[in-house]
Amino acid sequence: MTALDEIKIGGLGASRKRVEDNRFIRGKGRYVDDVVLPGMLHMEILRSPLAHARIRSIDATKAWSIPGVRMVLTGEMMAKRNLAWMPTLSYDTQAVLATDKVRFQGQEVACVIADDPYIAKDGCEAIVVDYEPLPVIVNPDQALAEGAPLVRDDKENQHDNVVFDWEVGDKAGTDRAFEQADVISKLELHYPRSHPSPIECCGSVADFDRATQKLTVYMTTQAPHIIRAAVALVAELPEHMIRIVSPDIGGGFGNKVPVYPGYVCSILASILLEKPVKWIEDKTGNLISTGFARDIYLEGEMALRKDGKILGVRMHTTSDHGAFFSDAQPSKFKIGLMHSAFACYDIPAAHLTARGVYTNKAPGGVAYRCSFRVTEAMFFQERMVQAAADDLGMDQAEFRRINFVGDDDFPHRTPFGFLTDSGQYGKCLEVGLDAVGYQDFLKQKEEAKARGRLLGIGISTMTEPLGAGNSREYDILGIKMFDSAELRVHMTGKAILRTGAKTQGQGHETTWAQIVAHELGLPAEDVVVEEGDTDTAPFGMGTYASRSTPVAGAAVAMASRKVRAKARKLAAHLLEASEEDIDWELGRFYVRSAPDRGATIQECAIAAYSNMPDGLEPGLEAVSYYDPPNLTWPFACYIATVEVDPDTGVWDVLNFVAVDDCGVRINPMIVEGQIMGGLTEAYAMANMQFITFDSEGNCVGANYMDYLLPTAWETPGFELHEVVTPCPHHPIGAKGVGECAAVGGPAAFVNAVLDAIKDTGVRNIDMPVLPDRVYEAITTGRDVSGAPPVRLDDG
Ligand code: CDP
Repeated sequence: MTALDEIKIGGLGASRKRVEDNRFIRGKGRYVDDVVLPGMLHMEILRSPLAHARIRSIDATKAWSIPGVRMVLTGEMMAKRNLAWMPTLSYDTQAVLATDKVRFQGQEVACVIADDPYIAKDGCEAIVVDYEPLPVIVNPDQALAEGAPLVRDDKENQHDNVVFDWEVGDKAGTDRAFEQADVISKLELHYPRSHPSPIECCGSVADFDRATQKLTVYMTTQAPHIIRAAVALVAELPEHMIRIVSPDIGGGFGNKVPVYPGYVCSILASILLEKPVKWIEDKTGNLISTGFARDIYLEGEMALRKDGKILGVRMHTTSDHGAFFSDAQPSKFKIGLMHSAFACYDIPAAHLTARGVYTNKAPGGVAYRCSFRVTEAMFFQERMVQAAADDLGMDQAEFRRINFVGDDDFPHRTPFGFLTDSGQYGKCLEVGLDAVGYQDFLKQKEEAKARGRLLGIGISTMTEPLGAGNSREYDILGIKMFDSAELRVHMTGKAILRTGAKTQGQGHETTWAQIVAHELGLPAEDVVVEEGDTDTAPFGMGTYASRSTPVAGAAVAMASRKVRAKARKLAAHLLEASEEDIDWELGRFYVRSAPDRGATIQECAIAAYSNMPDGLEPGLEAVSYYDPPNLTWPFACYIATVEVDPDTGVWDVLNFVAVDDCGVRINPMIVEGQIMGGLTEAYAMANMQFITFDSEGNCVGANYMDYLLPTAWETPGFELHEVVTPCPHHPIGAKGVGECAAVGGPAAFVNAVLDAIKDTGVRNIDMPVLPDRVYEAITTGRDVSGAPPVRLDDG
């Protein structure tokens, strides 16, 4: 027998079709809204129409009297049970249902539980709330102004609207670098609020069984075990009597990491009513109240030598966190990985300060398809790099080449203290420049200019930290970050694998089986993957920040290796040889001196249940909790070429080239899908997505008429290329990839538009780079800000 063909059994490198698509394409997915339990009631939330107001009174008498209404929950009732406020992921507090004030438009004020969702909605409409309007704050300038109204007057020691003031880096060294600089390049910009906007909104079905005292909650969460711990701590229920089930999820993108008031209220209602209670959020509720991202302002400066070397970088950011500071925040990295900026460049000194403020907007700062604040970091970095190259009058590709970390310089200590693992940055750039035809395009651009046409090219190159933890440095609320996998091989050689991650469309059911196939030689189709049920899956931190492959994926490999180690003992027994004389090839052990004498992994599996050697435990299964030694650092180079119409400001993408190096690719087709999806989101952010606020704090972007999602019609084509630099510390050499394109993509588009209009002297147009903003920049020659409040034209 010869070794198995790994691609044929669906192992590493096979572009295996996604097994989960069988049910998704047929409409057979099982989402939270598909969960129907006997006697189930329905919950609706009453939300505040005002952004800032004192609550004088809430009268729910009429709602209680509607036939079919079973309960009305208000902040006052929650307060009696000590549940009016809940802790956030960043040691702040967040109102579950408002008691004293409402602090943003869309805040949860009351819940109605009824026999059907329509009655529950009628119940909400029958509640009368008497609000006393208060002055509204919609941006940091207003929040920090002298005499600004206090957003968080509920907090004892909070005398202003500052959430935090942090700094990191080498201030003295950076000051010295600026003293030695030939040129100082400056840039100011705003990364606007955006929303992960999964097609499926948030929801839960809470089911408290009085007889067993067990609470089961089906919910849209990316991190079921963390939710179980949070419910145990906040509701003071015993953890072993809580089961969180996260069924199929229709997209998460970071939106489904936090705990939302709707989850808490449905759980409390189920406990009080002893009935299952379902809450399904509608699209507007999702867009105005849950998990906003970004909304951050940058002032950046770069100290440059005439020959193009970057000597130092200063950055100051001010982020708008809305009314509650609720983003995930690793406690040892208090700027939330903003300080991963400039990790791919060799820069001697850098200093970063960051301030967060409270405003009358929904809680923001979630990591929308990124790790904490990495998207903002990479956007600022690449916008600053382009501005610096322009200020030096230097070619932007050459400027990057001069400053990249070299291939032999790994592990490399970044200017803010991270250790990057491996990469071939220069090679990725060259592959990208070749693919886009860089030199030809520059000529074409000059020719076009002579005829009054505006062509531009934008580059974005970045490495980003994916795969938190290690547990030494990363925790959330003190819970260390690692992940897990449990593999059980049945006697017929079929297997079930469970992990502590939770897929939301990324294809874990397909790719995890491929890792098992690679490690054990079991055909991938013989391995079923299950995630998301805390009663069956081993404890893990869930899926966000592209951490699944670096951490849970590594745990899958390690659990498989434990299984293989045990199977080797079984093989030695079956082959009547000593274990030391047994060798392994994919799917089979054999006697080194007699390679024809072998035992397949399937033969070992049956022996584990029917023919074990004396002293060996029956069964063939293993659990692995994997604590990675470091983060993985994938690299990406994105290049966009555009044409801007000077008469309208409309810009079209002519070409887009992506070169991604995410180490070893488990499933190249899935990786390409992740990159395509990420680039589509990047294009949306750069081109069209607009979620902002007017001066009254009204959310503009509360529906898909105002908050635009790109369809296949608008989205440009993307040409994908790969470079493979294996991760030196991951068991199969893989790095994360899911978020790279959404993180690095926006700067390529924006840089391209600004390159096209460079002659106007305009340094910045805030995203989204809408045609009217481009037109304004061309006609005035001034930068265009997108910071709120926006002026809404009548009609
Ligand atoms: O944590 P999340 O699943 O969102 O992100 P990821 O770990 O980057 O993985 C996204 C998808 O791409 C998963 O199905 C991975 O198994 C797959 N992938 C891959 O095939 N090869 C890689 N080197 C990285 C990810």
